[in-house]
Amino acid sequence: MGNTSYKKPLIVLCVTGCIAAYKACDLLRGFQKLGFDVQVVMTEHAKEFVSPQTFEALSAYPVLSEMFEIPQNPIPHIKLGQQSAAVVIAPATANIIAKIAQGRADDLVSSIALAASVPVLVAPAMNEVMYNNPATIDNLKTIASRGVLLIDPIYGHMACGGEGKGHLAPVEDIIEQTLIALGFGQKLRGKNVLITAGPTQEPIDAVRYITNRSSGKMGYALAMAAAKQGAHVTLISGPVALPAPEICDVINVVTTQEMFEAVKRFFASYDMAIFTAAVCDFRPEVTFEGKLKKGVDNEKLTSLSLIENPDILAWAGKNKTKDQIVIGFAAETDNLLENAKAKLVSKNADFIVGNDVSGGKVFGKDEACALLIYKDKSIELDCNNKELLARDILDFIV
Ligand code: CTP
Repeated sequence: MGNTSYKKPLIVLCVTGCIAAYKACDLLRGFQKLGFDVQVVMTEHAKEFVSPQTFEALSAYPVLSEMFEIPQNPIPHIKLGQQSAAVVIAPATANIIAKIAQGRADDLVSSIALAASVPVLVAPAMNEVMYNNPATIDNLKTIASRGVLLIDPIYGHMACGGEGKGHLAPVEDIIEQTLIALGFGQKLRGKNVLITAGPTQEPIDAVRYITNRSSGKMGYALAMAAAKQGAHVTLISGPVALPAPEICDVINVVTTQEMFEAVKRFFASYDMAIFTAAVCDFRPEVTFEGKLKKGVDNEKLTSLSLIENPDILAWAGKNKTKDQIVIGFAAETDNLLENAKAKLVSKNADFIVGNDVSGGKVFGKDEACALLIYKDKSIELDCNNKELLARDILDFIV
């Protein structure tokens, strides 16, 4: 493609020459937060409004403008429009809309639009008289009839003075329309979702701790899946080696007590809470400040006394209102159905997702199978990678 080193799904953001070009910076940031890489393509006129360096610094990729500027890839207009997730033209001038309507391909932006096989979204922004000109109206109708997704401008202050309809649609609307075009859902729009993930760690001394094999992958996958359904997600994470999903608010904790405090702080204002964390049920009664030494502190090390940690899910089950949904997990090596059903009752959860973790399954792995327990029912969800399983769990629950 334009640059072969894209690491994530790609949005091609085409910026054309309009005073609203600076808003494309926020759009770029918004797409990045959702986990996309963004390749910015600018027309020559767009560079009169925002310098390419601004977009390069924000996107970490060179801005493209010329058809043949990358020697190793002389046809970026074909590849960008076919191997990206979507092409978003924002702001789109009357001129680029006219070119797309005519099927012209005399610069990189119009060529990408003509060659695109992925969703193309166009967010017009221009003077109101230009927007209402019958030529522009016809052009917009033409491109919409051919499948281009239009994001209507709004009424607002015009750069040339006065007020009128021609103001670029709000950045959030452009992002929302893009997500819908990409098949993301809106099932959790407006909802607050709280998720615990990963293991907790309970310190013994300055260097030693008790923990478990949880990688956090399931919780992180659920956080992404909920956010992609439009939820505002707060992820309370124990120590994991996963990148923080930018789309969520992440609160890092270490011990069970810290995780419990964070849950208590947020729980009341959340619509749904999902407890995927593999919480340490016990912690050392005494934590030693320095490092215990073999030969000197053997007695302390061999006679560690443990005390019970709070059960966070059980606390949430006890304190939930009738409008809150509480979902727990049950990691079992034996009698999955029986144990998961018992946890549904003892923790007063609305759903329990049961995982068979016998023989080293699930913990740390990319795939999992799940048995969903609710009321007196149980449903087996297909084994899948954790991203797809997370989507299926949420689909079912929502
Ligand atoms: N859980 C919790 N706080 C704890 C222990 C568990 O919030 N102190 C939650 C987990 O996040 C999970 C569910 O309770 O959603 C079940 O956790 P699991 O470890 O399977 O069960 P435990 O209650 O710890 O019981 P056991 O270890 O005996 O199976």
